[in-house]
Amino acid sequence: MFDFTSDFWPWFINVPVVIGLISMYLLIIWMQKKPEEGSLDGEPLEHKWDETLVELNNPMPSWWVNMFYLTLIFAAVYLLLYPGLGTWKGLLGWTQAGQYESELEKAEEIYGPIYAAYLEQDVVALSEDDEARKTGHRLFSTYCAICHGSDARGSRGFPNLANEDWLYGGNPEAIKTSITQGRNGVMPAWEQVLGKEGVFNVAEYVLSLSGRKVNETAARLGQDKFQQLCVSCHAADGTGNQALGAPNLTDNVWLYSGSQRAVIETISNGRSGRMPKHEGFLDEAKIHLLTAYVYGLSAGDNE
Ligand code: HEC
Ligand code: HEC
Repeated sequence: MFDFTSDFWPWFINVPVVIGLISMYLLIIWMQKKPEEGSLDGEPLEHKWDETLVELNNPMPSWWVNMFYLTLIFAAVYLLLYPGLGTWKGLLGWTQAGQYESELEKAEEIYGPIYAAYLEQDVVALSEDDEARKTGHRLFSTYCAICHGSDARGSRGFPNLANEDWLYGGNPEAIKTSITQGRNGVMPAWEQVLGKEGVFNVAEYVLSLSGRKVNETAARLGQDKFQQLCVSCHAADGTGNQALGAPNLTDNVWLYSGSQRAVIETISNGRSGRMPKHEGFLDEAKIHLLTAYVYGLSAGDNE
């Protein structure tokens, strides 16, 4: 319950708090004591600051004193009811964990039925529902934006989810599978097999697939290697294979940037993008809603 590491610390809190309250009380009593001679009646005190500024011995206004007593009583009652003193648990039995749990319960009461209703709906319909999109956006910001960006446009190594280019497919089932089970695209390293020049040639061929200006001779040599080594995953025409997460290499959309250097780096050393699985971490209804949100980002022709 309490995280004190030794018996010393509770007293380190109790003693100053209690002594502090008692001294405040004594201080007020003392301030109100009538002086031994004379009275508290607005007489000027002996010392003068200068000719015009004098101090009168008026009593403290009673509303002020009473407020002070009230704060002291409040402090005492509060410390009795709540756990403010060392290991004292408080008469109300309030705890942080209890508060957290009751807030969770309340949230479940409010949001449970809403999520349950979302879960009943089909992903495509849900992706067009404004309220659902807003909630989906909040979930996305919390759980996904850290990798895919708050606008879902991704960054190097983290796919853009807002375009129509998909590694694993953009239909509701594929998106849900990506989120639920995670993904791990494995692009092997080829430098050992191809050598530096071979890698360069094949990179030139890959770039030519997106209509980029390349060294024609190198690209022609690269094409042969591509047909031998790469088509099992990226397909004979380079358009990729969603079952393996092998990207389409012909559309000038790049997971790891399409600069010549980045493409050479990819082919030389390989890549291994990993999307964590969210099963067990997010419940079914949240994954369903996120699926609809992601689906809706590029709504239209999502194939
Ligand atoms: C730790 C980083 C990380 C987090 C967090 C993350 N993702 Fe991903 N996600 C990735 C990576 C990396 C890939 C690409 C995997 C690959 O290269 O094979 C990916 C792939 C995907 C894909 C497949 C994209 C395609 O083109 O087929 C979807 C859909 C997706 N993520 C959705 C989500 C959603 C929704 C969330 C939030 C619940 C999320 N991701 C959280 C890193 C992350
Ligand atoms: C075993 C299947 C497999 C083979 C064989 C393979 N790749 Fe890949 N390749 C992938 C996968 C999967 C990815 C995506 C990696 C990721 O998600 O991190 C990829 C990514 C790439 C990329 C990065 C694309 C981008 O958008 O940034 C390039 C370029 C590439 N491969 C070229 C090649 C070339 C050239 C060959 C042959 C020498 C080859 N690949 C062979 C599976 C393969």
